Amino acid sequence: MIALPKSVQIKEVGPRDGLQNEKRFIETADKIAIIDKLSKTGLDYIEVTSFVHPKWIPQLADAVEVLKAIKRQKGITYAALVPNSRGLDRALEADVDEVSIFMSASEGHNKANINKTIDETFPILKEVVEGALSSGKTVRGYISTVIACPYDGYVQPTQVVKVAERLFEMGVTEISLGDTIGVGVPTQVDTLLKEILRYFNANQIAMHFHDTRGTALANVMTSLSNGINKFDSAIGGLGGCPYAKGASGNVATEDLLYLLHGMGIETGISLDKIQQTALFLEQKMEKRLNSKLVAVARGEDFDVTVRSLRN
Ligand code: HMG
Ligand code: MG
Repeated sequence: MIALPKSVQIKEVGPRDGLQNEKRFIETADKIAIIDKLSKTGLDYIEVTSFVHPKWIPQLADAVEVLKAIKRQKGITYAALVPNSRGLDRALEADVDEVSIFMSASEGHNKANINKTIDETFPILKEVVEGALSSGKTVRGYISTVIACPYDGYVQPTQVVKVAERLFEMGVTEISLGDTIGVGVPTQVDTLLKEILRYFNANQIAMHFHDTRGTALANVMTSLSNGINKFDSAIGGLGGCPYAKGASGNVATEDLLYLLHGMGIETGISLDKIQQTALFLEQKMEKRLNSKLVAVARGEDFDVTVRSLRN
């Protein structure tokens, strides 16, 4: 058996990655209520929204309002996606705790997603990082399409390293590596991480798995075996990228918790409370969520988890 970490940090990206892909507008008050519930589950990191162009992602056009209205709990970092200086102005106005910049390892997705080439993107992000740091904010970087790109095909790990080096040079403290279209398998994740970890420490890296082909939890196991102990996930398994057709949700927070707690890995998060929040989310979104553990919460599946695993 692989050596497992004692604890793992989960970064909840549902309110941003999850909702950005939803066609039907979720009322601002409902978004706030969902985030306030998430704040009471034991999570210490929530990506609340995104300050991209509202024309591109209308669902998150209420970013300033949401970030200003949530009841912030001590000890929780409330982060948001920021693509450029215009977005940073709005994020600072709403007093974001941490700024998340993002770009892709592949040209095709970078262009489709943020309308720039990779080379054009670096100076734009540098300005964001400088502005955020000088305002006393920390900055996290996302690299998308680290395994494969819906436009360009498979991506070489060396290309991911090149982009990561540039982002770390700018001053980001952590990079989240995204399998944006959720097609990666453990051997590919292992090859990628072996290359990445030649240059960076495991504690500088988080993994962000979408679950389009059902391989996300297997990829989490491979990441754990490489010493990674930070993962992004979305309540209810919501999520996707509007500029990566067919990409489905992130690994569900509750399914990830079941896996981690079952293996004795601490997260500080209550599975019960996440499941209850997922049921609340189903009501507000008027749709069924896909995760395995939300089916348990609905009473549709047997529940063999003992109390000690659930919390
Ligand atoms: P653009 O049209 O190239 O922007 O969009 P521009 O700089 O040419 O500006 C055009 C106009 O937009 C200007 O207004 C700007 O002020 C305005 P005008 O002068 O014409 O009146 N503008 C803005 N307004 C409000 N907020 C802003 C903003 N920026 C410009 N931030 C841009 C470039 C990046 C903004 C656009 O392409 C965009 O918003 N893209 C959204 C992409 C997105 O949200 N994708 C999903 C998130 S990424 C993801 O999901 C992957 C991830 O989960 C990891 C993984 O899974 O791999 C993170
Ligand atoms: Mg994503």
